[in-house]
Amino acid sequence: MENLPQHVAIILDGNGRWAKRKGLPRTAGHAAGAKNVETITIAASNMGIRYLTLYAFSTENWKRSVDEVSTIMSLLAKYLIRCRDLALANNIRVRFLGDLTGLSENLQKTCADVTRETAGGTGMTLAIALNYGGRDEIVRAVNRLRKENPEGEITEEFFSSFLDTVGMPDPDLMIRTSGEERISNFLPWQLCYSEFYFTDVAWPDFSEDELRKACEAYASRDRRFGGVK
Ligand code: FPP
Repeated sequence: MENLPQHVAIILDGNGRWAKRKGLPRTAGHAAGAKNVETITIAASNMGIRYLTLYAFSTENWKRSVDEVSTIMSLLAKYLIRCRDLALANNIRVRFLGDLTGLSENLQKTCADVTRETAGGTGMTLAIALNYGGRDEIVRAVNRLRKENPEGEITEEFFSSFLDTVGMPDPDLMIRTSGEERISNFLPWQLCYSEFYFTDVAWPDFSEDELRKACEAYASRDRRFGGVK
């Protein structure tokens, strides 16, 4: 595909509504959503996308019922292991964005293991945002910066190096599934010049074809980064 986005970031939305429409519990939607993470990771890697960032759990998602949060956490524990196997088989490097210290010790260990074991992947980078909030990321960055560089001059580039996304280019394309059209605290610094694509398709139904459609829409956009052409 010509003009393929190098970095695609996705807000995985609509698991609950997908399940409700089928008369299933919300947790069944999360299970289907977690399964779809595998499908889209492989599809993106095969298409030649270099970075795929997925918003799996936000700093605000803790407000959900204890039952729902615990289902999502156990799905994550299970799917992260599958993600590792899939990553190793497909030369994918996995990394995490967000404040992992807010997760259970077990999950933190799994994240550290998956990061380490896949660090040699030279194909696509899969970034999973877990306990991630954009404002939280910026505040954590400022706090570290104040400690490490209390008086120095700050440039955008230097500031970016304190963010969770250090070393990654900004997303070219941000996709949100399931009809909502907002960024919900996802990568506010990094999405400044990204193209947005919204679809009514719920995350569990977001197929490889849907990903291609989003990339085709991106390819036809005229990006000017505030300048003229
Ligand atoms: C959004 O749907 C989905 C979530 C908040 C959780 C998604 C997380 C997973 C499926 C686990 C992912 C696994 C890996 C390995 C990344 P929603 O519940 O907000 O749907 P609704 O808006 O219809 O209620």
